[in-house]
Amino acid sequence: MDFDIITAFPGMFEGPLSHSIVRRARDKGLVEIRVHDLRADATGRHRKIVDIPYGGGGGMILMPGPLFAAVEAIQERHPATSSRTVLLCPQGARFDQERAKRLAVCGRLILICGHYEGVDERVREHLADEEISIGDYVLTGGEIPAMVMVDSLTRLLPGALGDEDGARHDSFFEEGFDHPHYTRPASFRGLKVPDILLSGHHGRIAAWRRARAQEATARKRPDLLKPRARGRAEAIQEH
Ligand SMILES: C[S@@+](CC[C@H](N)C(=O)[O-])C[C@H]1O[C@@H](n2cnc3c(N)ncnc32)[C@H](O)[C@@H]1O
Repeated sequence: MDFDIITAFPGMFEGPLSHSIVRRARDKGLVEIRVHDLRADATGRHRKIVDIPYGGGGGMILMPGPLFAAVEAIQERHPATSSRTVLLCPQGARFDQERAKRLAVCGRLILICGHYEGVDERVREHLADEEISIGDYVLTGGEIPAMVMVDSLTRLLPGALGDEDGARHDSFFEEGFDHPHYTRPASFRGLKVPDILLSGHHGRIAAWRRARAQEATARKRPDLLKPRARGRAEAIQEH
């Protein structure tokens, strides 16, 4: 999968996308991540990318010209791959695991990072295919949301995780949370690992994990359970 990230702050991406699973996925050629400096697509002596808002008010707005030029240059360089252009934006559709699964099958994602007071409205209306928000709060720029998307989408690509089935067991993949995890030592400051996990009985361990995952989801986020499972969990809690 290819990611093209358009940003006024390319330096922000140097660390976060160069470690751990994303780094390994890049090394294996599963993902290609290109960070484009918005100023490179700006014209004029000062390579201007922002201007004051029409109608007055504070803050600077990212101009449409450099953003359109950056997206069009990427699309022209890769005419064969189907691409989707996403504007990171607090007004966008909420990014969650379901949306991540849907986007992980795109050949190329072009991520536009807003900054300052925001982005000229024509970008939202005529350049972006969709707007995505990572939550109901306002960040300084779309750079961290873009990193969030690249990281979570990369985990979903076949071969990205050491354990082929890894992402399948993660929270939110199917329904609700992951189960609890324990590692050595079996007793830490008198706190014991549940006996069932030391039993070697795979069937019972799997059932225990399912039950604990469902119990945690019902307690902390019942909205994540499908109606049948929610009914069962509520009945257990009433007893
Ligand atoms: C300071 S914000 C602009 C906020 C804008 N004035 C508003 O109130 O909606 C600058 C940029 O950060 C990005 N951003 C901020 N919060 C975000 C969020 N929750 N999800 C995705 N992008 C976000 C967007 O790209 C936005 O254009």
